[in-house]
Amino acid sequence: MLTKAPRGTRDILPDKVGNWLYLENLIRKLCGQFGYREIRTPIFEHTELFQRGIGETTDVVEKEMYTFTDRGNRSITLRPENTAAAVRSYLENKLYADTNLCKLFYIGSMFRYDRPQAGRYREFHQFGVEALGEANPAVDAEIISLAVQFLQDLGLKDIKLLLNSVGCPKCRPVYRQKLQEFFKPVIGEMCEDCQSRYDRNPMRLLDCKNEKCKELAQGAPAITDCLCDECNEHFHKVQDFLTAAGIEFELDPSLVRGLDYYTKTAFELKYIPLGAQSAVLGGGRYDGLIEECGGKPTPAVGFATGLERVLLALEMQNLLPETVYGTDIFIVALGDSVQAKAFEILTNLRKDGFEASMDFAGRSMKAQMKQANKSNAKFTVILGEDELKSNSAVVKDMQNSTQETVSLDDLFATLKAKCHK
Ligand code: HAM
Repeated sequence: MLTKAPRGTRDILPDKVGNWLYLENLIRKLCGQFGYREIRTPIFEHTELFQRGIGETTDVVEKEMYTFTDRGNRSITLRPENTAAAVRSYLENKLYADTNLCKLFYIGSMFRYDRPQAGRYREFHQFGVEALGEANPAVDAEIISLAVQFLQDLGLKDIKLLLNSVGCPKCRPVYRQKLQEFFKPVIGEMCEDCQSRYDRNPMRLLDCKNEKCKELAQGAPAITDCLCDECNEHFHKVQDFLTAAGIEFELDPSLVRGLDYYTKTAFELKYIPLGAQSAVLGGGRYDGLIEECGGKPTPAVGFATGLERVLLALEMQNLLPETVYGTDIFIVALGDSVQAKAFEILTNLRKDGFEASMDFAGRSMKAQMKQANKSNAKFTVILGEDELKSNSAVVKDMQNSTQETVSLDDLFATLKAKCHK
């Protein structure tokens, strides 16, 4: 136990951190281009926020939340997603006060107690975007265009955009009834989850992963045939905007998202080779959530993408840039009497903007040179007792193995010229 991370969590080791920084830098640049500003909300929130926001009958709330009672006897939940928290912060901090469209993005860990497998973890990282305050379908299209450009900027190919409308509280009851009529004769053959959702949330029957249930759901009525005029018009306008932006999409009437707050637009970006975890990114409109959380009725739309899945797709397409770690200078200090001088040089090099390291174990010349090589140093500065006596050091170019003796008075100027600092 002491030497094993909890199931479904993973360390991001130093040699992989470069991949994450690459993603994060690209995200910050892209969101800047689209005018979205970063928000950082707490990793835990009051449990009620997610119960109310995400929906009591969803898998996330029913089975997957990390919920505990804190020492103050409050029920707390590690965030399983960040839309509800963004809405909470929007209301608490009155982010609506100076704009009619509040555009936010976030990057951070989310937590869901799910069965771990490739691309599915208990702690995972999302990059998400939320646009709060505007009902115009152009905002849905802007959000989708940001999502598509994110994956395109990374160079990913063969990504499929699936689009649907899940209606609104006006048209959904009609659709729910149609679905219940359709499933009524076969509900007894469906899985326990589907049976329990038949009354409470029949749309989720379309999303069951069980093979038998999938088969029985074939030919179910499509929500797009039941949309009210307003939802229908919105859906068509989103498609017009996407077409105008040259974004290809596929209509998928069976696309119902796993969280209950969605209204109208729902979409997913899929990378099929990821198999069961092919949903790389998902989102949609949630015009009722802000009111549900205690605010005035306010339309909103957003998405989130699982960065582990994005990285898996990038790996599969060989698109991750190689990050080479190295240091400018490694100081090889030979003998106890030179340690203090070496440490002084090391400190001053760092103050001067060099990347510099040294060996602290007082090992042999051979061992220290090996370490210099391992740390990919461009130059080593070798300081022994003889050098110290003559106020000099040997500077070795690690690429072509040439070396020269340099006076300590000229050491910094020489290294600056060599390292182009
Ligand atoms: P979601 O579909 O639950 O939506 O999650 C979004 C993305 O997070 C998924 O497409 C997937 O890539 C990733 N993801 C989800 N669960 C896991 C997991 N266990 N392991 C690895 N990756 C995972 C939401 O979370 C909504 N808040 C999105 C949204 C924002 N809708 C509107 N605004």
